[in-house]
Amino acid sequence: MKRILSAAQTTAPHADAIRRLASHPWQRLHVPGHSGKAENAPGVASLVGEHALQLDFPMLFSGIDQNTWILNNPGRKTPLLEAQELAAELWGASRVWFITNGASGGNHIATNVVRGLGREFIVQRSVHSSVIDGITHVGLTPHFVYGSVDTGLGASHGVTPEQIETALQTHPQAAAVYLVSPSYFGAIADIAAIADIAHSHNVPLIVDEAWGSHLGLHPELPLNAVQLGADLVISSTHKSVGSLTQTGMIQLGHGPHAQALESLVDRVVRSYQSTSTSALLLASLDEARRNIAVNGEKQIGAALAGAARIRKYIKEDWRFRDATPDVQGMPDAFAYDPLKIAIDTRGAGITGTQLQYELIRDHAIYCELATPAALLLLIGAASPPDVDRFIKALESLPPSDEEPERLLAMPDKLESVMPLDEAFFAPNELVSWEEAAGRISADSLAAYPPGVPNVLPGERLTPEAIMYLRGTAAAESGYVRGASDPALDTFRVVAHDQEILG
Ligand SMILES: Cc1ncc(COP(=O)(O)O)c(C=O)c1O
Repeated sequence: MKRILSAAQTTAPHADAIRRLASHPWQRLHVPGHSGKAENAPGVASLVGEHALQLDFPMLFSGIDQNTWILNNPGRKTPLLEAQELAAELWGASRVWFITNGASGGNHIATNVVRGLGREFIVQRSVHSSVIDGITHVGLTPHFVYGSVDTGLGASHGVTPEQIETALQTHPQAAAVYLVSPSYFGAIADIAAIADIAHSHNVPLIVDEAWGSHLGLHPELPLNAVQLGADLVISSTHKSVGSLTQTGMIQLGHGPHAQALESLVDRVVRSYQSTSTSALLLASLDEARRNIAVNGEKQIGAALAGAARIRKYIKEDWRFRDATPDVQGMPDAFAYDPLKIAIDTRGAGITGTQLQYELIRDHAIYCELATPAALLLLIGAASPPDVDRFIKALESLPPSDEEPERLLAMPDKLESVMPLDEAFFAPNELVSWEEAAGRISADSLAAYPPGVPNVLPGERLTPEAIMYLRGTAAAESGYVRGASDPALDTFRVVAHDQEILG
């Protein structure tokens, strides 16, 4: 059903207020120190242009967000509040907060919100490492639910309603349910059913929708999490909707569980926000929202058509396989994101990683992610791709008869022997990788891509996990987030005398 949006969606109150402010001939005796002039910061100006410097105000600047605005516009909300209300309307949330430290910052905020509800919660194990950092920082006790894994493609997906029901029955003291949907490869969990289950146990559902900020914005896209009943949603708006890198949103759902969170979320957002939040970053959220509201039907339609053409080509070229059915076939997958295209490269005798490299080297085409088995494309929701260029590049790929590199086996579940926060903050030492097996990790170690921690603080390292992480670190495009030593020749472990065995 097409939603009727207010006429104000064609405006961008925060962005327009910043423009007006910047066009005034101020003598700027305030932060930032470049004072909006290229001559004061020529290198920066050559990067972003003088206009960006002129727009670069800290958020609490009195002209638009605080005192002067309210004095000059009595009874009117600040432009930022108006911009956030328009975003709430477009995404279907009851309230939205703009954030500028990405969905990572959003996860830190949301884990803090969980701490306001209790210490224990149900959480998908394959969350992004920022959730694990949040758990560690505020000392939560997670009860993990293990999402499905596609070992063939090397992809982690989500959890099912049945798993959440069982987890809530097993841990009746849990204060919230926290999951990731869509997965990196685009599997969307049954959010409506999981929200019902969470609410029947009287707890809110929090969804990290970092990869789904475009969902619900076009009739051919699946609905987004707030529209399906989630109470709190973290959205990485920059990932697909077109705002500047690092910008995101926290969205509040509807109904009593969401409303009960509102003042807590508001306080936590404020406590995490920089006092110098960039007005430019916030304005980019406002403009991205306006663009989707005004042009979304056409632009997202074109992006979807482009994605469909790429899929069609992949299906017709014997060397490749469209892995969408694998994503759709996962037990947790209720729907999938058509703007993610997973290309299985194994038939072409080439790894996804090699293909990614050749596309960069020979065609200046940069793709989102590669595993030894697949190449993953992300089509920006408002960015219809140049399909012909991509297809031409695939067509010109030289034949390969190389033995494809084997997919590194993901390590099995590790034994947790110490609470995450205790292990992270405990006295620790660096040991060589040969000595690390059997020791308790002090770090959260996440192979990137996709950034899901394979080892948590407090878990006992196994030879298999050590080899997996070292293999990832050695790969061309891999790195391990959280590692003190990028090559993983050493591991940071809890000091011997601190270990609590068994
Ligand atoms: C599921 C998930 N959540 C959160 C994030 C962090 O997003 P950001 O890069 O916007 O901080 C990512 C990043 O890849 C992610 O995959």
